[in-house]
Amino acid sequence: MGSLFPLSLLLFLAAAYPGVGSALGRGTDRARGSKGSSPTPSRTSVPFWVRVSPEFVAVPPGGSVWLNCSSSCPQPQSSSLRTRLQQGKTLRGPGWVHYQLLDVRAWSSQAHCFVTCAGKTRWATARITAYKPPHSVILEPPVLEGRKYTLRCHVTHVFPVGYLVVTLRCGGRIIYSESLERFTGLDLANVTLTYEFPAGPRDFRQPVICHARLNLDGLVVHSSSAPITLMIAWSPAPTALASCSIAALVGILLAVGAAYLYRYLAMKSPE
Ligand SMILES: *[C@@H]1O[C@H](CO)[C@@H](O)[C@H](O)[C@H]1NC(C)=O
Ligand SMILES: *[C@@H]1O[C@H](CO)[C@@H](O)[C@H](O)[C@H]1NC(C)=O
Repeated sequence: MGSLFPLSLLLFLAAAYPGVGSALGRGTDRARGSKGSSPTPSRTSVPFWVRVSPEFVAVPPGGSVWLNCSSSCPQPQSSSLRTRLQQGKTLRGPGWVHYQLLDVRAWSSQAHCFVTCAGKTRWATARITAYKPPHSVILEPPVLEGRKYTLRCHVTHVFPVGYLVVTLRCGGRIIYSESLERFTGLDLANVTLTYEFPAGPRDFRQPVICHARLNLDGLVVHSSSAPITLMIAWSPAPTALASCSIAALVGILLAVGAAYLYRYLAMKSPE
């Protein structure tokens, strides 16, 4: 590559402006005529860009990913990737370097790709997210006790739990929603949400759905349970109902499965 591009600045101009011949002519004339100085282009700061692709990528926990770092610098002095993630193979081509990252487990990481061109260093940043959409979202058949239905929803094998929001809907109306921000574990987990739903006459024959949403800053993953219709006929006591609708009992149960994670990773077996 070096021997092909002896005059890095001129070639940079040629690449930047498609009308190669004339642009080169004008560029050199202007450089000589107006300035008459700076014969060493490598000392001046050359405008160039650095890009990393993809800029945002999500992988299952323990997975690997390739990042392509490209630049418009015709003759980079150096290019490197800085990240806390484990690096694997590196492939190089004209104007790009392809970096492999291995065993991504932190739910969110960054990788900075640095390129130094004619003494100036620029960089681009990629964000890498490890996530696993729920394997299943299961709503147990609601159990009617007194005037309340006990709704229990299981969200299995999900990661990262801290970015999970579990929502219960009845006939399209949100009856309960919980964000699990306070859970910061680094393993796949099973989540069970229990909610006592003071159903009213309007909820009769309405479908109840449990909805799990992973919101990973830009990447949103949705999963829903099969709907279950509330079928029990309503026994009369409507006035008491309206007032007790707030008094609901809620619980979240979290089972974290480190052992399962390893089995999952073994099954995935790295490429
Ligand atoms: C990396 O990106 C450059 C520029 O977009 C492209 O030409 C090159 O083929 C890519 N390399 C790989 C391995 O995808
Ligand atoms: C999570 O749920 C699945 C399926 O119900 C079960 O096989 C697994 O053992 C559970 N893991 C934990 C940690 O409870």
